[in-house]
This record gives sequence, C-alpha cells and structure tokens, in this order.
Amino acid sequence: MNTDSQQKKWWKNAVFYQIYPRSFADSNGDGIGDLQGIILKLDYLQYLGIDAIWLSPVCKSPQDDNGYDISDYQDIDPMFGTQDDMDMLIKEAKKRNIRIILDLVLNHSSDEHKWFLEAKKSRENPYHDYYIWRDGSEDTVPNDLKAAFGGSAWEWTPETQQYYFHQFSVKQPDLNWENPKLRREIYDMILWWMEKGVGGFRLDVIDQIAKEPDQNITVNGPNLHKYLKELSRETFQKGDLVTVGETWGATVELAKLYSNPDQSELSMIFQFEHICLDQEEGKEKWDLAPLPFLKLKQVMKRWQQELSGKGWNSLFWNNHDLPRIVSRWGEDKDYRIESAKMLAILLHGMQGTPYIYQGEELGMTNAAYEIEDYRDIETKNFYQERLKKGDLKEEIMRSIHAKSRDNARTPMQWNGKKNAGFTEGTPWIKVNPNYNSIHAEDQIKDTNSIFHCYKKLISFRKKHPVFTEGDFQLLLEDDENIFAYERTYKHVKLLVICNFFRKTINNPLATPENTTELLISNYPANEKTILKPYEARMYLIQT
Ligand code: GLC
Ligand code: CA
Repeated sequence: MNTDSQQKKWWKNAVFYQIYPRSFADSNGDGIGDLQGIILKLDYLQYLGIDAIWLSPVCKSPQDDNGYDISDYQDIDPMFGTQDDMDMLIKEAKKRNIRIILDLVLNHSSDEHKWFLEAKKSRENPYHDYYIWRDGSEDTVPNDLKAAFGGSAWEWTPETQQYYFHQFSVKQPDLNWENPKLRREIYDMILWWMEKGVGGFRLDVIDQIAKEPDQNITVNGPNLHKYLKELSRETFQKGDLVTVGETWGATVELAKLYSNPDQSELSMIFQFEHICLDQEEGKEKWDLAPLPFLKLKQVMKRWQQELSGKGWNSLFWNNHDLPRIVSRWGEDKDYRIESAKMLAILLHGMQGTPYIYQGEELGMTNAAYEIEDYRDIETKNFYQERLKKGDLKEEIMRSIHAKSRDNARTPMQWNGKKNAGFTEGTPWIKVNPNYNSIHAEDQIKDTNSIFHCYKKLISFRKKHPVFTEGDFQLLLEDDENIFAYERTYKHVKLLVICNFFRKTINNPLATPENTTELLISNYPANEKTILKPYEARMYLIQT
C-alpha cells in the first residue's frame, strides 16, 4: 500500500470510545450491562462525536476474567444478549457512523472452550496440540514461570498426566500458536466476524502469543512478528479494518514493526510505558511510587516523535484495567473538573488515535471499597497473596484503592437516580457513591462540563488537520510543573500549555496577539502570565 492511501486511513482522525459492556447500561434489570443497553445509548455516543466503539469481550464465557476467557468465539454470552442483538448493534451503530471494534482474545481461551475440553481428554486427541503441554509429575512444575493473576503458570491435568501453560488464570489456558491448524481456525473465525460487518479488532495481550515457556519467554517471542504478518495477511488486509494490539512489552522500536505504514501487521498498538511510570521500578503495579513528571514528558515526546511517519500512536489514559486518570494523575476532590479537563486537553492535542474509556468523559473517579465489594480476580488474588506474605491490610487496601482494575469497572453514571441509572436491579458491582454529583445527565446540559470539553476536543480533530498531521515539539522540557508542546503543520501551529499540578505558577510562554485563537481552556478567564492549578490551554496559531 502506498503512503498516500495510508494517509487517508479513516482511523487516523477518528476518536474511539471503549465500552466495558457489563458496566455500561443494563436493559433488562439483571444488574449486568448488555448489548441492548449499549444500543439505547448510541445516541449519547453519537452526540459525543466518537467514530468507533471498542467493545470489551461479549462472546460466550464462564466469566472467570469478565469475558477475557472465551468459550465460544462465534457466539454471544447470554448475559449480554444474542447474536441478533450483536447484528442489531452493528447496524444501529453504522446508521450513526460508528464502527464496532471487537476484542479478540487470541492468547488463550477459556478452559471451557470445546477445544480445551477435547484437548485435555488425552495426548492423542486432535485438539491436544491446540494448547501448550509439558510432561512432569504432579509435585514438580516444569519451571518457575508465574501467572499474571498469581501462582504458577503451570496447572496439572490428571487425564493427560501433563501440565498445561496459562499466563493468566487457571481457567485461561494459553493457545499454541505454533500449531498451523489452530491458526487457521482463528483466521476463519475472524473472517466470519468481518463478514458480519465489524470495523476492526483490538487484540488482547497479542505480544504474548509467541511464547517459548522452556526458555522463560512469555512476551515478544521470536516468532511473534511472523505470526502477526500471517494473521494480518489472512484476515485484516482483506477489509478496511482498524486493528490495535495490546502490547505491554512494546518499545518504540517494536512499535514501528507493529504499526508499520505498510500495514503488514497492525494499525497501531497500546503501549504502556507512560502508564507504568508510577510504580516502583522492577516491581508490580501495586507497589506505588510518585509519578516522575519529567520522565512522563520524555516518554510521551519519544513516542510522539519516533512514530511520526513511521507508525501510529494510540492515545489513552484509561481502560478497563487501569485506575481512573483523574484520581491518579489529576485531583479528584477540589479540582476534579479542572484536572480532568487538563488531562483531556493534554492528550487530545497529540498525534495518534485517542481512546476514551467510558465515564472518562464525565471525570468519573476511583472507588474506595471494602475488600468484599471487589469483583476482579486480579484484585482478589493480589489481596490474598499479600496477606499471606504478611503485608499489612491497610497497605494492601491502599494499593487496591489506587490501582485495582475495578476502579474502572464501577457502573457508568448516567443520572442521579437509583444506581446512577445503570440498572433497575442490583448492580453486579457497587455504584460509586459519588454518582449523585457526577453523571451524564447533568453534564450534557452544562456546556462547561467535562463532557463538553471532550466533545469539543473530538470535533477539533475532525476540523483541523494539524491534530492528525502536525509534528511534535516538546517545550520547556525541564520545567517541573508545566507540560507544554506544539504541533506544526503547514502554516498552522497548535500550542498546548498545561499546568500539571495544584499550585499557581508563572507561565513563561507567550503567544502572538493577532494570529492566535484560544481553542479551549479549563478556566473561564485566563491571565496571560499565570497558570492556575491544573490550568490547560490549547491555542491555534497561524504562522
Ligand atoms: C488483557 C485484558 C485484561 C485481561 C487480560 C487477560 O490485559 O485487558 O482485562 O485480564 O488481558 O485476557
Ligand atoms: Ca442485563
């Protein structure tokens, strides 16, 4: 594909919105969000202005990891609806110019998938080789590899007298990508979804598919890019799709392979370098550390500059695995509105495809629950593991309040009525008690709301090519408070100035009088030489 047609890719000036279906909108009162619930909210999303919905998994699943454990890739879990509901969602979204992006979990399946049920019957079973097995005896695991949700990555199976490999829970056995038959099944399944009219795919932990467990390689295995190229050739390249790979192990160099403009692999990836900065080095996300602000600026700059023309960035602060950004790097009490808008303005001026996670556009916050109120398998396992290790309960809860994935999974706050308007029944996870003051209904009416800030930012990306095309220059690199940058495209400059902290500071950046337009800001009036707490401004300058 030549550079020209690459330039015109629809997803380059698109804004995506992630829905975590079980927490978005419940249409039938069983306390769990569903596809019909999403359909009811499509007008809301159209009004916000987004182009595509990334839908976290809705396929059939025992829900050990909330759907990231799939037992049938070509069926919808009854909890979410039916295949007809899915067809209707695709159709109704299309009417509003919104594409549906499905979440493909290809690193592992559920242990209740028919492939695994067969595979574990015997070593001779035709599906045995769809998974990863090692001989051994019941009391000695093949090696020390650990699963992401705690414990060993190896699980004993009495039927075959073998261990199977799982990088996540024991109910998520890893698929064996070395097996061409398995790969073919996967491609056929993807082609089937493509025929149904989906707009693309998000690929769950895709950099973990090419593992070599005997060499302790779980991520970035030697065959990874070979598999990705084949996958792309056999499926995605046959349509006008967008693909985004979840890659916790990505470096900038690897990102150039994944998102090469020749489209031989993926459209873009989610990389996590910025999002992992506030943890102790070499430790787990739970081991909290202050955000190194100067480093954050350098990391963002590097990704912006290195991928320019050579790949494509995704832009995000949030997803269903991350705490709420306003509670994390903003301030969710006195300056919740200002800091939520600052973080939005900061991110949405950059080059790449922005992803908004449900409720982010309202400034939804973390929730601090008692341990009984958490539902996430990772959180619950972490709690038990650290208790066993002898850590103090208060310390463990501090980490959970800061980093639990359930922070993102509390029900969407639609209005100030019962259960925030999410369900008529009992929600599967508690609603954040602050729903009385933080909800969509209020914010839609108030043109100064966080919602309207996002809505404007989305519209700018459609209107001004500098958002998509402009190059990136970090300003005031060593400033300890200000995150400022400019983007330049032809005769237009986009200037973004953000005070990242809670104190009032001086603003050393001047803008030319006549040729400058203030596109957006998070204070009603701006004093030239001063930046108030979390103040953010975005200017368009003709040069
Ligand atoms: C990804 C998903 C996460 C899931 C894991 C295993 O990281 O985003 O929610 O638990 O993969 O599928
Ligand atoms: Ca429901």
